[in-house]
Amino acid sequence: MFGGASGELTRLFAVVLLLLSSAVVVVVPVPGSELRVRVRLADGLVTEEVLEADNERDSISLEFKQGDGTLVTFLVDFKQDVKIFRALILGELERGQNQYQALCFVTRLNRNEIIPSDSMARLRQKNPQAIRLAEERRGLDQLAMSVAVNLSRASQLSSHIHNMCSEAREAIYTREADVKYWLEKGMDSSMFEGLPQTTGLPSLQPCHSAKDLWQPCLCTYNMSLEWYPCLLKYCRSRDSAGRGSSYKCGIKSCSKGYHFTYFVPQKQLCLWDEET
Ligand SMILES: *[C@@H]1O[C@H](CO)[C@@H](O)[C@H](O)[C@H]1NC(C)=O
Ligand SMILES: *[C@@H]1O[C@H](CO)[C@@H](O)[C@H](O)[C@H]1NC(C)=O
Repeated sequence: MFGGASGELTRLFAVVLLLLSSAVVVVVPVPGSELRVRVRLADGLVTEEVLEADNERDSISLEFKQGDGTLVTFLVDFKQDVKIFRALILGELERGQNQYQALCFVTRLNRNEIIPSDSMARLRQKNPQAIRLAEERRGLDQLAMSVAVNLSRASQLSSHIHNMCSEAREAIYTREADVKYWLEKGMDSSMFEGLPQTTGLPSLQPCHSAKDLWQPCLCTYNMSLEWYPCLLKYCRSRDSAGRGSSYKCGIKSCSKGYHFTYFVPQKQLCLWDEET
């Protein structure tokens, strides 16, 4: 997911790199827009997170593997103001599941959630061995994903959905409020499909309290981004005449948790959500 090489090259010598916290700013021509940082996950495990920026498509992606083998991918599409979460969860073969299970959650991007893609493309680090810890914890978002998205019709929403979610064909979800917003913007309603409500229906139990593996229930999936560049930092400089100006000189990092609730036709598809 790299930006075009020509775009990178023309900027090569004019680029002022944004460096990760408390490092000196240097000007180094580094082609490519991939950054690998070491991040400590909530369970204490250190993982390598890959951050990529695509200037042409105006998008950022972030990917890492959890200790349980789950591959988490987070993609931000600035062109459409959409963010996509994907989890590829290793299945339990002995319980009759597929090798892995894919989940895709699509929702609106808010302002100031993450730095722009052109800044992301210029981010470098001085010490690649350092284990990064977020400077700011942004709490936990509870998201009721009560609408299903039809993969073959979703390209209008974001051109990235096809790539990101094709393995999650039967499990692409979004929120009702997002759908309302998109419909008001003129999107085609045929890509959305209502699911049984995520609240209020007594017959729909949370999966962790459902007894029967084949019964429908409300599944919960937790995802956590432990480190991502959420804000640009500005420094002030003064020229010889004493005039002040500000320039981008680094980033602030954040962590954030997401708590997705969504309908599954069988508890079997939600085996992580069990009473312990
Ligand atoms: C999704 O859209 C395709 C193509 O328009 C259609 O054939 C299919 O039946 C739809 N799937 C569902 C689950 O509605
Ligand atoms: C998800 O997170 C919530 C709140 O932190 C917690 O109560 C719940 O047990 C977690 N669920 C799973 C399946 O890990």
